[in-house]
Parts: sequence; structure tokens; C-alpha cells
Amino acid sequence: MAATDNHFKLTMLLFGLLFVASLHLTVGQVGTFFGRLGTNLPGPAATVTLYQQNNIRRMRLFDPHAPTLRALSGTNIRLMMGVSHSDLRDLANCPQAATAWVRQNILRFPNVTFRYIIVGNEIDPNSELGPFVFPAMQNVYRAIRVAGQGGRVQVSTSIQISLLSRWSPPQLAAFKCSVNWFIRPILEFLRETRAPMHINIFPFYAYINDRRNINLSFALLQPNSGVVLGGVYYDNLFYVIHDAFIAAMTKILAAASPLSLQQTPEMQAGMEVKGTTGIPSGGENAAPPPEGSIPFERNTTALSDGPINTNNNARTYINNLMRVVRTGTPMRPGRPIETYIFSMFDENLRPGPDYERHFGIFLPNGQPKFPFRFR
Ligand SMILES: *[C@@H]1O[C@H](CO)[C@@H](O)[C@H](O)[C@H]1NC(C)=O
Ligand SMILES: *[C@@H]1O[C@H](CO)[C@@H](O)[C@H](O)[C@H]1NC(C)=O
Ligand SMILES: *[C@@H]1O[C@H](CO)[C@@H](O)[C@H](O)[C@H]1NC(C)=O
Repeated sequence: MAATDNHFKLTMLLFGLLFVASLHLTVGQVGTFFGRLGTNLPGPAATVTLYQQNNIRRMRLFDPHAPTLRALSGTNIRLMMGVSHSDLRDLANCPQAATAWVRQNILRFPNVTFRYIIVGNEIDPNSELGPFVFPAMQNVYRAIRVAGQGGRVQVSTSIQISLLSRWSPPQLAAFKCSVNWFIRPILEFLRETRAPMHINIFPFYAYINDRRNINLSFALLQPNSGVVLGGVYYDNLFYVIHDAFIAAMTKILAAASPLSLQQTPEMQAGMEVKGTTGIPSGGENAAPPPEGSIPFERNTTALSDGPINTNNNARTYINNLMRVVRTGTPMRPGRPIETYIFSMFDENLRPGPDYERHFGIFLPNGQPKFPFRFR
């Protein structure tokens, strides 16, 4: 009887786990960023068709773009949409500007599935725009609430790794002291509004900045022998960077004022994060490593690994990504990571080194550069 009983409990447990897993996976975890800095790109309607044909169910847009919003209307594609950086100052200074922005860019498109508004992408806190990010987030949040959209649209911002003073081992990651004034109110606000932080996770840049110390397989998320960092086993660089952000955010929130509200299970589990990632498939070989910190405790990678930005490596990275985001990281086991691939297309007007114009997973003519499968 006891054995049967246990068997029953085990079955129920497994059933419960499967149920939780299926809830997480009802909508594909991986979407793509539709950047439009190209002279030769398909139009919004053709692009939305490409999303549908390839089962890509999430889109990230850098800013509101009415033709794309019209093309998305009536589809089930979930949208993460940014705010033009030129609007940040007004949105921060003037609640009416936020009200108008929400009317113009959200309410006018009732059949678009807005999920997140990203107020500022990788804004340098100590730049001119830095001080506007948090007040703009607050005003946009309030305007969305007043418009009755608070239940379905969350407000966040997007940060990059340069805000961290160190990121390896992940447990020792922390925000730079010079950005604490910026990040702390934002994290407290996200916690209160139960919105996710958005982080940009680019093993590609970490690798080209420190080729001598990072194994190519590790950067491409290939099965490899891994590395122990701060006593924890990591087998890919995506997880390392993700967990570094988690650790840094957790430290800020632990030091922040305690919650007045009762802690929900989500809060105890820690703030959710969404990520954007990508890798170029070509362009000139990436820059040599600069002088400076060496995040890894070992030096196994020879320069003979060759350039990372090849078509074959991009194919490897993107296909491995589809797998690693489903399982969770050492700090967040079992929690899939909603991730946006940067970018949908190669964008020939994107500034910077040559490889910046090779981040697409599709050619401008709509052909995939290599095989992949969204699910
Ligand atoms: C939204 O969809 C509904 C139902 O299909 C339709 O009647 C309505 O005209 C659409 N609104 C807009 C603004 O596209
Ligand atoms: C990188 O890791 C792979 C897989 O563990 C291994 O086969 C390869 O030798 C490593 N490369 C270097 C240069 O250490
Ligand atoms: C790493 O290995 C390379 C190649 O063996 C060597 O030239 C270099 O000095 C090493 N770097 C460090 C920091 O030990």
C-alpha cells in the first residue's frame, strides 16, 4: 500500500512539474528584435509574415513604428517596444507627455499584443539622458495604468554589462558604485510593480574583449568541459552573464528599503529578467582584447580558436541558445529565460565596426542564414 501511495505521490509530483513546465512554455521563449536600420529590408507586413512562417511569437522593437504596429494588429505576436530616446526628456518631465505617448503608441493599436515597454535601451546613467530614465518609467507606468492597460503592459528598461564593476565569478558581481543612484530606484520600482528587468546578454562582446581567457565553445554555448566559478560549475557564458546580473541586482535589493507589501512567492524567487542576445555571422574579424581585467581564473584558450563571427559559429550559438534558455541557470534552475535574438535582419546602416552589420539571422531577402527552429 505504502509503495502504491508513494507511486501515486510521485506521479502527482511529476504531473505537477509537467504542468508548471507547460505553463512556462505556452508561448515560445525566444523572439527576435526587428531592427530597421537598413535600406534593403522587407517592409513591416512581409516581416510579420516571416515571423509567422517561422513560428516566432515575440518581437522586440526599438521604438514605436506605426507601420509595424499596424502589421502586428490582429496577430498573436507579443511585443516588447522601446521608447525613442529623443522622447525620454519629455516623458520624464511631463506626465501629460506620457499620457499622449500612451494614447499615440498603445491605445491607437488595440489589436496589438503589447507586453513590455522598454524605457531606454542601454542608457549610460552618467550621460545626459541618464537622469531621465527613472522618472520617464514612472510617468509611462502611471499613464498606462490610467489608460486601463496596467494589467497587460509592463514597464521596464534595458541595461548592459558595462554597469557592472565585475561579472565573474557571478556571485561576486556588483553594480559600479557610480551607477547605484541610477539602478537602485529602478530596481525598487520594478519590484513594486512586479515588472521584469531587461538585460542585454552578449557573450560575443565578452569573448572578443577577452579571447585569451574564454574558450570559444564556452562562448558559443557548445557542450564543453565547463569551468568552476566561485565554486559553481558553469558550462556556458550566457549563464555566467545572466547570473552576474541576478547577483548584482539581488545585492542592491537586499540593501534597499524593505518591502512594505507582503512578499509574494514571485518576489521571494527574485525579480524576473528578460534578455536580448545575438552574435554576428560575419564582418571583419573582431577587435583584439584591450588591456584590463581578466574575469576568468584560467587561461586555456589559445588564439588559434579563430574568429568568432563566422556563419558556422552564429548557427551554433543560435541553435544552442534555443536549448539553454529553456532550462534555467545555476542561480535560477528550472526557470526558462524569455530571450530576444538581436537581430532579425542584417542592417546595413548600423554604425560601428563591420560586424555590427552582420547580426541578422535572416538575410534582407528573407532567407534564413542558417537553419534554426523556434518553438
Ligand atoms: C480590432 O479587431 C476587431 C475585431 O477583429 C475589429 O473589429 C477592429 O476594427 C480592430 N481595430 C483596429 C483599430 O484595428
Ligand atoms: C575548449 O573547450 C573544448 C570543449 O571542452 C575543448 O575541446 C577545447 O580543447 C577547448 N579549447 C581550448 C583552446 O582550450
Ligand atoms: C595565456 O596563454 C597564452 C598562450 O599560451 C599566453 O601567451 C599568455 O601569456 C597567457 N596569458 C596569461 C594571462 O597567462
